[in-house]
Amino acid sequence: MFSSSAGPAETNVQEVHHPLIQHHLTRLRNQKTAPIEFRNLIRRVAVLLAYEATKDLQTCPLEVETPLVSTEGAALKHSVGLVPILRAGLGMVDAVLDLIPQAEVWHLGLYRDEKTAQPVEYYKKLPHSEPVDVALVLDPMLATGGSATAAVSTLREWGVPKIKLLTVIASQEGITEVHAHDSEVQIFVTAIDPELNDDKFIVPGLGDAGDRIFNTFKQRD
Ligand code: PRP
Repeated sequence: MFSSSAGPAETNVQEVHHPLIQHHLTRLRNQKTAPIEFRNLIRRVAVLLAYEATKDLQTCPLEVETPLVSTEGAALKHSVGLVPILRAGLGMVDAVLDLIPQAEVWHLGLYRDEKTAQPVEYYKKLPHSEPVDVALVLDPMLATGGSATAAVSTLREWGVPKIKLLTVIASQEGITEVHAHDSEVQIFVTAIDPELNDDKFIVPGLGDAGDRIFNTFKQRD
């Protein structure tokens, strides 16, 4: 069983500061950044977030034969699941999977109703048993926190003991909402922006991450 070292909610938020992150984040925020570059930037930031978020993963000793001698190495002890929240989370998954190639990938489909800002679930296909030991939930935006809270609740129902949420930009309101439902979730974020506007968009934010990743700015019915 994975032993959780998570503490109270306030210690479970890590705002990851790094010159590369600040540089890439500024280009992500720029409305002139085209989708092709936006996708690349999301991938780069996702790797840096994942590096921080996996620092406490446990290893077990593993003997390895080099071309010269036998020596002691290490292997990850626990199973890791990547859980991208569709659609925008898809923009992060390949980059994190490159870092943890043995990870399982479990997709959750959630979109936010434009009128109510409530999450609507449209895809969930988790097995009934054998939950991963650690889940990395991937979503570039944490606004009201409704989508992340729904994802966390689904993962707890599956039986996942340790959940980490990797997000590029969050509002304080969203962080508070997630922790009001589950204070053990660890949140890794590159920027906590000050407010949500009347449409529940993060301000200053970066707009709609899903539309910017997938180049879908057209008016929809
Ligand atoms: C965005 C974002 C999060 C959610 C955040 O997705 O990627 O999933 O909204 O908002 P919340 O914290 O208020 O729930 P969106 O619903 O626009 O779907 P998309 O990824 O398909 O664009």
